[in-house]
Amino acid sequence: MNPKLNIAIDGPAGAGKSTVAKQLARRLKLTYVDTGSMYRAVTLQALRSNTDFNNADALAQLAVKIKIALFSGDGDFRITLDGEDITQAIRSPEVSRQVSLVAKVPAVRTNMVHRQQLMAVAGGTVMDGRDIGTRVLPNAGAKFFLTATIEARAARRKLDLSQQGYQVSLAALITEIAARDAQDQNRAVDPLVPAADAITIDSTNLTAGQVIKQMEKHINVTGNDA
Ligand code: CDP
Repeated sequence: MNPKLNIAIDGPAGAGKSTVAKQLARRLKLTYVDTGSMYRAVTLQALRSNTDFNNADALAQLAVKIKIALFSGDGDFRITLDGEDITQAIRSPEVSRQVSLVAKVPAVRTNMVHRQQLMAVAGGTVMDGRDIGTRVLPNAGAKFFLTATIEARAARRKLDLSQQGYQVSLAALITEIAARDAQDQNRAVDPLVPAADAITIDSTNLTAGQVIKQMEKHINVTGNDA
């Protein structure tokens, strides 16, 4: 295994990125980096400090100051904020509703992208997000863009949330995910778009295992310069 391999997985909410990224990382002995968790952490901090989501300067200041740490090992992923484990807290529907407002602030993105690039500098990551193949790791050894119909994505999200104790209707999730997709696709800086050299996989009718099999066919473990 080439120790320098970085793999980028982008796509819209609920396409199954984190599930396949975690499993792929475990199989290839790479480190999983959930970049969405970082934008969610800034959002949680903004909610806790009653920061106005329309105040870009205040959000940027939060992003610069926030002390987050990511831990990944053997398929597990955790994130801490000032040492507090916020892995569960960042999944709340409230954070999901606001996170795209935080992620569209250019100065927030600059800070998070820089942190992500530092995490990948030695290679060996499977990084998932929205702009990994286009912005964070333009030289990644393999780039994937994972999609699925909005109905399939909302149904998956409903299952995830119910396992975490949140009951949200399918209709509400379709509305929320569509709004978040639109916000992510239309923002001025690093919008959600497949990289020109990304391989698109539609996961609507595929299991995570089937998606991973397709990905592994494209991963060249020796030819990588990320
Ligand atoms: O897990 P889910 O697909 O719901 O989203 P996530 O990966 O946790 O990302 C939450 C939000 O963070 C996204 O809707 C984007 O607004 C933002 N994000 C981003 O802008 N760039 C990234 N690299 C990752 C996430």
